[in-house]
Amino acid sequence: MTVPIAIIGTGIAGLSAAQALHRAGHDVQLFEKSRGPGGRMCSKRSDVGSLDLGAQYFTARDRRFANQVQQWQSMGWVKEWEPLLYNHNGSEFLPSPDEQTRWVGVPRMGAITRAMLGALPTHFSCRITEVIRGKHHWQLQDAEGNTHGPFQQVVIAVPAPQATALLAVVPKLAAIAAGVQMEPTWAVALAFDTPLDTLMDGCFVKDSPLDWLARNRSKPGRDGAKDTWVLHATSTWSKHHIDLSKDAVIEHLHGAFAELLGHTPAPVLSLAHRWLYARPAIAREWGALADADLGLYVCGDWCLSGRVEGAWLSGQEAARRLLERLDA
Ligand code: FAD
Ligand code: NAI
Repeated sequence: MTVPIAIIGTGIAGLSAAQALHRAGHDVQLFEKSRGPGGRMCSKRSDVGSLDLGAQYFTARDRRFANQVQQWQSMGWVKEWEPLLYNHNGSEFLPSPDEQTRWVGVPRMGAITRAMLGALPTHFSCRITEVIRGKHHWQLQDAEGNTHGPFQQVVIAVPAPQATALLAVVPKLAAIAAGVQMEPTWAVALAFDTPLDTLMDGCFVKDSPLDWLARNRSKPGRDGAKDTWVLHATSTWSKHHIDLSKDAVIEHLHGAFAELLGHTPAPVLSLAHRWLYARPAIAREWGALADADLGLYVCGDWCLSGRVEGAWLSGQEAARRLLERLDA
């Protein structure tokens, strides 16, 4: 019997590692605290269709990721989003076109990680609380008190603050993860019966509580009847209002949106989501972290850049190091 590899976290980093290890012929088992995969790329189902409340789009600058995105495109998992982009400079909206290719999952961002997961064996609604090193193998303890294992190696693919707790068994790596600061983002979705009177599909905002606006149905494959917008607050505003109620956040951010546009009607649906660990404060060049002697690997966007591409590359790097060690 082969002893599988455990992967904690089914965001794009964990799934990137899982696919690479599975393709190399290894058994993997995934653990995810939420009910579905995707992490910060997941989409929320609502009465007005699926909404991308986390990652909005992604770019592919690294050749390896660009190749991967091309494959996803040929499988129908992603399409190019060609938004009419604007910039709000604090006083007015200005068109801000550029040449950048931007990708989105279809028909929702979460479609990519759902497809990547495929039939890989996964324990959902299973929050791992402890990673335990036995004499020969690893075991995982979950929040319900269940023990999982044995595992040959463990890949931890969760945001740095959550990784810190799981890395107690390797204090050197725990200290590195503990030094990574991750910033929050409040996201709000507003749906309007009557389309808003603007041409813009996406907007980078300056000097406002808001950082980003997106018209959800301008993305390919989203043709809901309502005109739904996703608003992201800045890290600074989100930090200062971290414990505000969702209703109060909706009121504030809808207010800021209405102020930018001059006026908006009352939304027919509004919801808010707080991303506590939305983005690492700075980019790093770690790729992944590892204690290869013990068989413990760590990946996630915070090991590179706080972007979909960074997370995917980090998962690849964790898998590469693990496979290299097995081949040695
Ligand atoms: P995550 O997606 O966070 O995955 C970690 C997973 O681990 C989660 O599913 C979590 O539930 C699970 N987990 C955590 N702890 C445990 C535990 N103890 N046990 C079991 N499971 C656990 N990037 C872009 O490129 N473009 C964008 O436009 C963009 N916009 C963004 C907007 C917002 C609001 C946010 C929040 C992020 C955005 N990003 C964007 C960043 C991008 O979403 C992330 O970089 C990427 O998705 C991170 O992937 P990951 O796998 O490293 O982590
Ligand atoms: P990108 O190249 O489109 O954007 C990078 C940054 O460049 C933008 O944030 C914006 O400030 C600026 N920019 C790009 N095009 C512009 C234009 N046409 N007009 C004016 N400004 C423009 O995409 P990249 O590098 O892949 O970054 C991903 C996006 O994800 C960024 O917008 C980033 O802010 C966002 N993000 C948001 C997070 C959050 O928590 N809200 C977390 C992680 C990423």
